[in-house]
Amino acid sequence: MTSQNSLPVPVTAQPAGALTGTISVPGDKSISHRALIFGSLAAGTTTVKGLLEGEDVLRTAAAMRQLGAQVTRNKDGSWEVTGNGVGALREPDDVLDMGNSGTAARLLMGLVASCPFTTFFAGDASLHKRPMGRVGRPLEEMGALITSRSGGRFPLGVTGRNLMPIDYELPVASAQVKSAILLAALDTPGITRVTEPKPTRDHTENMLRHFGAAVKMSAREDGGRVIEYQGQQELTPADIIVPGDPSSAAFIAVAASILPGSDVTITNVGLNPLRDGIFITLKEMGANIEIMNLREQAGERVGDLRIRASTLQGIEVPPERAPTMIDEFPVLFVAASFAKGKTVMRGLEELRVKESDRLAAMAVGLKACGVTLEELDDGLIIDGNGSAPMGGGRVVTHLDHRIAMSFLILGLAANNPVTVDDGRVMETSFPGFIDLMGSLGAKMAREQAE
Ligand code: S3P
Repeated sequence: MTSQNSLPVPVTAQPAGALTGTISVPGDKSISHRALIFGSLAAGTTTVKGLLEGEDVLRTAAAMRQLGAQVTRNKDGSWEVTGNGVGALREPDDVLDMGNSGTAARLLMGLVASCPFTTFFAGDASLHKRPMGRVGRPLEEMGALITSRSGGRFPLGVTGRNLMPIDYELPVASAQVKSAILLAALDTPGITRVTEPKPTRDHTENMLRHFGAAVKMSAREDGGRVIEYQGQQELTPADIIVPGDPSSAAFIAVAASILPGSDVTITNVGLNPLRDGIFITLKEMGANIEIMNLREQAGERVGDLRIRASTLQGIEVPPERAPTMIDEFPVLFVAASFAKGKTVMRGLEELRVKESDRLAAMAVGLKACGVTLEELDDGLIIDGNGSAPMGGGRVVTHLDHRIAMSFLILGLAANNPVTVDDGRVMETSFPGFIDLMGSLGAKMAREQAE
């Protein structure tokens, strides 16, 4: 895996002209992880088209092989996953290396919690800092044994047991924690119930249904949701077409909005209503985004986006919208830096425990690029003057793909080039980012080694 084993590769984005063209973005990361996991649990073969071949997802592919599934890539780029049924995983003979991926880490901790063996997990320096107790605690309540460093952090071991179902209210809005509990529930007799005060992405629930399992979801009056799963249902192999990742499309949507004269179409973008907050927000700021061709594909809403440049206004983003665009705030901060007036973004304490502390990393980098802002405990207030910020400066990415890509987008439209100290980590979620941006007319280049 490239981002771990080589020297840092700085990347510079130069001020560029309009972006134009029609492209598609790599497959959705959340759905790709789940396609490999659920394919590995169904008895028989599932074919997956459009899988994201980024490092994070390749970690899940490797882990599922270690756990006994067959996972192979066909010559045409599709993937085949063959499992032996729920409850049929085997003990891995080595540590599962989750690299930079919080999703792989947390989902697989849940998956192995009901397996009668111990699984050891490790990851990179970023993952070792991230909170895992949020997953460990409910799994321990179900009966699994977690042995970890203090604070429940990686590296850690999960010893699986015969679990008991729980009734659990999520203390943080996290699809990863919800999914970990549902994965632990798969081979647990009885009904496991998860309540989420604020709805989070529901790809796990959608995919369980796609594989033929019954999942009960009910809305609460206060806007929350209850998900109930009766354990020990069989899963039936079901082919999957992974839509383009809206989180990746967001970088291009912002770039096309802030670069005058741009006109870009992104085909086949996942538009699950629990993921589309960024497009709603950009439109509220005055972005010209047209959604075309809305359709349903393997239980997920998909469409094409046409984005034309426009002038943006500062707005107050409703904090309750945060879970539907949690990964898109770094690039929204960039959009807000070009808007006229204040953009207030709050309710974002979760951004402090992503691949990096995204509030701190973005605030430092944006200030270095001449953006006026106030950093709060739970968000940023960005005060734009409606024109391009100064840019310049070299930004530290802290092993965080979204920090790297956000600042490269800023560099395309600022008055001076922007350099990120290490672009390798972009491979985790968006392989080919620099070339794809180049095909639209962007100027981005890796620094040549001496
Ligand atoms: C994800 C859930 C979110 C998101 C992450 C992917 C998922 O994390 O930030 O990139 O696939 O379930 P949280 O559950 O920590 O909010």
